[in-house]
Amino acid sequence: MREQGFKTLHQATVAIDRPFTGSLRHAAFRAGRRCLSAYLSRSRRIWNHLPASLRRFSGDLYGRHLHALVRFQAERQQYFATFFLRNRPELELLRRLVDQRTPGSTINLLVLACSKGAEVYSIAWFLRTARPDLNFRIQAVDISQEIVDFAKRGIYSLANGDTGAMANDEDVHRNTQRDQNAWIFERMTADEMESLFEIQGDQAEVKPWIKQGISWLRGDAADPELPGILGPQDIVLAKNFLCHMKPSPAERCLRNIVRTVKPGGYLFVSGVDLDVRTRVARDLRWAPVKDLIREIHEGDVSLRRGWPLEYWGLEPFCDTRANCWIRYAAAFQIADIQ
Ligand SMILES: C[S@@+](CC[C@H](N)C(=O)[O-])C[C@H]1O[C@@H](n2cnc3c(N)ncnc32)[C@H](O)[C@@H]1O
Repeated sequence: MREQGFKTLHQATVAIDRPFTGSLRHAAFRAGRRCLSAYLSRSRRIWNHLPASLRRFSGDLYGRHLHALVRFQAERQQYFATFFLRNRPELELLRRLVDQRTPGSTINLLVLACSKGAEVYSIAWFLRTARPDLNFRIQAVDISQEIVDFAKRGIYSLANGDTGAMANDEDVHRNTQRDQNAWIFERMTADEMESLFEIQGDQAEVKPWIKQGISWLRGDAADPELPGILGPQDIVLAKNFLCHMKPSPAERCLRNIVRTVKPGGYLFVSGVDLDVRTRVARDLRWAPVKDLIREIHEGDVSLRRGWPLEYWGLEPFCDTRANCWIRYAAAFQIADIQ
């Protein structure tokens, strides 16, 4: 910033937009970036030292401002981290939606970006327990073949962290731990563990009745051919991967994903830049599902804890915002194939 003579972030940022010749423009851009980094690291320190009451008192305005800058600056990266029973209110909404179906109905359900399979098995266990009379045809897709192969086995290491018990299968241990900064089972009770898994030594294997009826595929959610390959779905979940893309590709991907939902079906999409989701939802006239909206928004503690200092962090629910329903809904009913 100094070598270009910019005294403030504003000056440096405005300078980027001026018609510089190539190298000057590049230097100004780099200076603007450096300036922004310095501003952000100071702001992070301030935020971390603010008492909780003061954070709330600021009406989260300061947090929103910080989060916008963090998202602008951050390099994005995909992760495999996931949890069993990650968002309980969301499972409850799924149950309420399928509860409207008559006994014997078939429900086509698609989980995009399924990672290690924890989300898929949680849904299969929860819904089949609630409605054993329904036939759930579940497809699970991830862009990584390696993680799809691991998910399909449905065997996880119970060791928590690298210092835990020695896993008797190194591959199971490595993949279970991959990118986790917390235990993959941390949101489950002992009773739930017993109901979902067969435990043998330091490994937990998903029970056969839960695994049954799930197809595992490698695929790219952004691939325009994917909706044709998978067929129309009653319910589609696309969670916690769009936020790891820059806004433009995330928006294109989301517009592609909705093409997998059959008219009248439901799309669950979270872990995505809220501005992107709001724009697409409005533009394509999705109907937000208001049932449990706040509980679902707040239902994944790790995302809420990441705000505002992580680009993937989730802003607090604010019911005084004008566009509150569409901004915070994580589930939408889709009227027409877009
Ligand atoms: C953080 S995990 C999310 C797992 C799970 N959906 C959840 O919410 O717990 C992100 C996953 O998205 C996958 N992914 C990233 N880009 C994708 C794409 N374009 N199509 C399908 N999967 C993708 C990654 O391979 C990774 O397994």
